[in-house]
Amino acid sequence: MVKAGSHGGGAKPRVAILISGRGSNMLALIKAADADSFPAEIALVISNRADAPGLALAAEEGVETVTIESKPFGKDRAAFEAVLHSTLDTHRIDLICLGGFMRLFTAEFVQRWYGKMLNIHPSLLPSFPGLDPQAQALKAGVKVSGATVHFVTPETDAGPIVMQGVVEVRDADTPETLSARILAIEHQIYPGALRLLASGKLRLDGATCRLSGDTDAAGTLISPRPTGR
Ligand code: GAR
Repeated sequence: MVKAGSHGGGAKPRVAILISGRGSNMLALIKAADADSFPAEIALVISNRADAPGLALAAEEGVETVTIESKPFGKDRAAFEAVLHSTLDTHRIDLICLGGFMRLFTAEFVQRWYGKMLNIHPSLLPSFPGLDPQAQALKAGVKVSGATVHFVTPETDAGPIVMQGVVEVRDADTPETLSARILAIEHQIYPGALRLLASGKLRLDGATCRLSGDTDAAGTLISPRPTGR
């Protein structure tokens, strides 16, 4: 078993959040990390798009931002990652959180950050990876869905699962209403997962992630709830 996220220093691990757009998960992480008791520091926000609305939100919160436009690199992912890596090095980054970062990594980059890079996805993985997971969930007719924070592996929306949150799926749901319900859960579990990683409580055991100490799940969600008659 491998202890995940170890950075070898006494100070709080320094986190970079990578975004491509809205940045609502980024904001949830920044706000959570504002608390003195939070075990990680959000040191940097990196966007691969200059027009990402999240950049202004991060700046308003006093977090340093860097834009590395990925478009000019085209399909040369390694060249983009070389710039990304030197930026991460310059800012002495220990951990990465992907928050709606819409760019695939090479296996080499993922390997280099394995156990130190988290992603969030709006479904209960391994169900519905990829695009439009909320629409996929509605099409499949599942009665619960949710969000997953996981370690990043070379496969998209896969990797050891750190934390999941569950929501009910209602008959009247549209992709938009389901997305909004899931997003509220995302904003809870992403800070929770980063807290666990940064405080050294996660262990990687092959393809699974284990937690040192007790878990504290709220119970069971049954949806739709059977009515007694
Ligand atoms: C979030 O819903 C996140 O789970 C999803 O992108 C959205 C970004 O929103 N990520 C993926 O689908 C990854 N495959 P945000 O910019 O407001 O955090």
